[in-house]
Amino acid sequence: MRIELDRISRVFCGTPAVDALSLDVPSGALCVLLGPSGCGKSTTLRCVAGLESVDAGHIRFDGRVVDDLDPAQRDVAMVFQNYALYPHLSVEQNVAFPLRMRRVPRRAREAKVGEVLRALGIDDLARRRPKELSGGQQQRVALARALVREPKVFLFDEPLSNLDARLRLELRDEIRALHARLKATMLWVTHDQAEAHALGDLVAVLDRGRLQQFGTPIDVFRRPANRFVAGFVGSPAMGFVEVPLLGGRCRALGQAFATDAGTAHVAIGVRPQHLKIGAQGPRSTSALVLSVEPLGHETFVRVVIDGAPLIAWSPGHAPLAPGAAVSVSFDPDDLHAFDDDGARVALESAR
Ligand SMILES: Nc1ncnc2c1ncn2[C@@H]1O[C@H](COP(=O)(O)OP(=O)(O)OP(=O)(O)O)[C@@H](O)[C@H]1O
Ligand SMILES: [Mg+2]
Repeated sequence: MRIELDRISRVFCGTPAVDALSLDVPSGALCVLLGPSGCGKSTTLRCVAGLESVDAGHIRFDGRVVDDLDPAQRDVAMVFQNYALYPHLSVEQNVAFPLRMRRVPRRAREAKVGEVLRALGIDDLARRRPKELSGGQQQRVALARALVREPKVFLFDEPLSNLDARLRLELRDEIRALHARLKATMLWVTHDQAEAHALGDLVAVLDRGRLQQFGTPIDVFRRPANRFVAGFVGSPAMGFVEVPLLGGRCRALGQAFATDAGTAHVAIGVRPQHLKIGAQGPRSTSALVLSVEPLGHETFVRVVIDGAPLIAWSPGHAPLAPGAAVSVSFDPDDLHAFDDDGARVALESAR
């Protein structure tokens, strides 16, 4: 099912939680809604589910406007962060519940429930009550209950956020496999960019209710559309050097650049992974070490270059002390530039 959001807005007390948001999610895609707390991810999802009505714009499923359909008529399954299982029902009965509501005959129901429980690796827990399960197991039961109906659209609101890191990775893999098998359209809300990259065919980055960028995870990482996306996607975050522009020219990281920015300054962005300790890259400049974060397999180094605080990177262990002077190298093609309004602008090396 193709899902189109056509300039939808949802306003609470005069403030838009979702502001003229347009998205076109092709049938069968897994689209991640990514953004900081309060940016409107859950509200958007609730609008798609029909739990919230839109104040402006339209939502279409396969070209048909669904604005006035109630949640049951939209045939979507939703899994929340705080999944509510029925405490008095067993795992099996919880998962069978949506089928019972639809009066699916017992034999077909049991077969379907068994299949879904096996797919999620919880068939041995079928007779237990929710309170006899771990958080991760409860989360799987909530997923199973959503999956058992086989709707055309799945909506997930941070369903993995209560789990420990290892379980998150494991369930991520399972969701990816399920998505490949079911070929259903999925909208997945998270503020975790690693999850967005791991799961999404498409990522929509939101800030303050507005769409900032919509594309593949790689697109969004390689060509952030604006400074917000550049700073939000990538870990550790991209660093910026603010420099004045004179006749479309500027100097940063010891190099001269030309840009098409129409403003008085430009912010040159560089990801830690693209600023390498050592002078072996295409261009290099000198930096002062502020602090060192050794992770064993790699090292992040806080440095100052021309007065700007940035993070540089080294593979393995880099034996550096605060106060040391080092060379850092980079490829000009890996740099990004944004004008005073935060819009991406072209950047070229100049003499
Ligand atoms: N029912 C409501 N009444 C008033 N304001 C609301 C309501 N629901 C959400 N908001 C506001 O709308 C904005 C977006 O909220 P939303 O829950 O969609 O954010 P979110 O991106 O899901 O954030 P989080 O990552 O913290 O879950 C917030 O400023 C929030 O306070
Ligand atoms: Mg939310």
